[in-house]
Parts: sequence; structure tokens; C-alpha cells
Amino acid sequence: MEEDEGAGASRWALVLGASSGTGAAIAEAVARRPGLDVFGVHRGRYPDSGARMEQSVRGAGRRAVLWQADASTPEAAEAGVEALRREAGPRSVKLFVHSIAGASVGHFLAAGEDRLHARRIRRTFDTMAHSFIYWAQALVAADMLAPEARLLGLQNPLDVTHLHNTGLISASKAALEMYVQHLAMELGPLGHRVNLLKFATVMTPALRHVYSPEALARLEAAHTRMHPAGRMCTVEEVARFVSVLVGDDAAWFNGATIDFTGGMTLRLMDLVLNP
Ligand SMILES: NC(=O)c1ccc[n+]([C@@H]2O[C@H](COP(=O)([O-])OP(=O)(O)OC[C@H]3O[C@@H](n4cnc5c(N)ncnc54)[C@H](OP(=O)(O)O)[C@@H]3O)[C@@H](O)[C@H]2O)c1
Repeated sequence: MEEDEGAGASRWALVLGASSGTGAAIAEAVARRPGLDVFGVHRGRYPDSGARMEQSVRGAGRRAVLWQADASTPEAAEAGVEALRREAGPRSVKLFVHSIAGASVGHFLAAGEDRLHARRIRRTFDTMAHSFIYWAQALVAADMLAPEARLLGLQNPLDVTHLHNTGLISASKAALEMYVQHLAMELGPLGHRVNLLKFATVMTPALRHVYSPEALARLEAAHTRMHPAGRMCTVEEVARFVSVLVGDDAAWFNGATIDFTGGMTLRLMDLVLNP
């Protein structure tokens, strides 16, 4: 690949939500392959796993910078991209991954605490969907995208199989999917690629936050029965696949929702009829 004049000396991954779970695993994986430096954004609630991620990235010989902010606002996106530009220089972001988790669960018509009222709806959409656009806009405005950059949102299977209290998550992810498709059209002519990676349940702090240990055990047992492979997917498997998506051979994916669920929902009817 030709080096673009004025491009930063190294290539960086900008990972929103790099201190934990999927984002941390992706940061570690892309530092190893293809060898990206990492600028991670988080709010500081996971200092231990954030430090482990930094250590792992540096162990791979790459630079790691953790930047602390609530990433869900346009102001944070502009300030974060400015901080990254000072560190990395222009046209240095090869990969942008949106891996923040901050959604409300509940019911639209419930009374009391379970109700998904307007403030929770706005907050969930800001975090899970709109922030993808804010960061993409800031990256383009600051001329930060490297040649053939990849922008990646993350999706779950709750678009095809619904859990009773996750309507707001599904709705915000549906918005994210449309943002991905439209950005793919806007950035495609410039050589960049924008996709959504859909993967099945993996054990991360986000899940542990939502479910009790007993519910998590039931969840794992159910997934083991559901998956044709007879086990849950791991966060490392998802992360290694992102290393593949950064590669030149994956350059034709654009505006795609890439199904990495391992066939998780294929046997649902079978399991209902033959429990
Ligand atoms: N886990 C799954 O089974 C699964 C399956 C499919 C898709 N996904 C998607 O993968 C993404 C990551 O989920 P996860 O399970 O890996 O979550 P996680 O382990 O809770 O990690 C979330 C990360 O995002 C950061 N974060 C959250 N809100 C933030 C905010 N407003 N500003 C800045 N940083 C913020 C967290 O750190 P701080 O809290 O310190 O900010 C943390 O680093 C989500 O988009 C989720 O929908 C997850």
C-alpha cells in the first residue's frame, strides 16, 4: 500500500471503551496484528483491566494512551480527537472501534424504576448510537483517517431475537446500523470502509452488571445448548476477527452487518419445541 503524503508515522486504533470487555480485547489484538498503536477512551470505572490492556499493548511493542472522558457527546469527540491528533499526527487512524456499553434496560410502559422514560432513552441513544457519528465527524474534520481506514460498530443478535427488557438496546443498535450504512456511502469514495460486526453473547463486565451470578449461569447453559458449536463465543475470538477485518483482504466489506454469531439463533425453534 502506498504511504499517503502527510500521514502519521505510525498507524493507530482509536477504541471507545478500551478499558474493559470487547474494546480491551480488540485493543490488545490489533496491537499484536497488524501492529497498531492504541488510543483508548473510557470513564475510569475499570482501572485494573484498563492497566492490563495498556500493559499488553506495550508488551506487543506498540504505544498505548488511555484518555478519560464520557465519549457520548460531540464535545468529547472533538476533544478526544484533538488529543489523539497531538499524539499521533494527521491521517493516522487506521481503525476506529465503537465499543462502549451504556444502555438502560426496562420496559416502555412499566411504572416506576423499570420505565424507559425520555432521559434514559436519550442517554442510551447518545451512548450506543449517536456517538458513532460524533466521533466519525470529528475524525474527518481533523483529517485523522489514515488511507483505507476502517470504522467499526458492534452489534448483538437482539435484532432478530428479543429479550423482554432490551427494547431500548435493540432500538439504539438499529439506529447504529443505519448510521453505519450511510457513513459507508459517504466515506466509501474516499477509500474508507464502515461496517457493523455482529457477534453473540460473550462474558464481559457489561453482562455481569445486568445479570445476577445465577442468571449468568443460566445464560451460559442456554447459550451452550443454542450454539451449534456447543459453547459460547469468547471475547478473544471476536477481537482476533477484528484483526482480520483491518487487513487488506477484508477491504471489500462496506456498509455490511457482518454475522459472527456462530449460528447462535438457528436452533431457537428447535429448542422451544424440544426443550
Ligand atoms: N458482551 C456481549 O455479549 C456483546 C455482544 C455483542 C455486542 N456487544 C457490544 O460490544 C460493546 C462493548 O460491550 P462490552 O460487553 O464489552 O462492555 P463492557 O465490558 O462494559 O465495556 C464497556 C467499555 O466502554 C466504556 N464506556 C462505557 N460507557 C462509556 C462512555 N459513555 N464513555 C466512555 N467510555 C465508556 C467502559 O469503561 P467506563 O465504564 O470506565 O467508561 C468500558 O471500557 C457494546 O457496544 C455492546 O453492545 C457486546
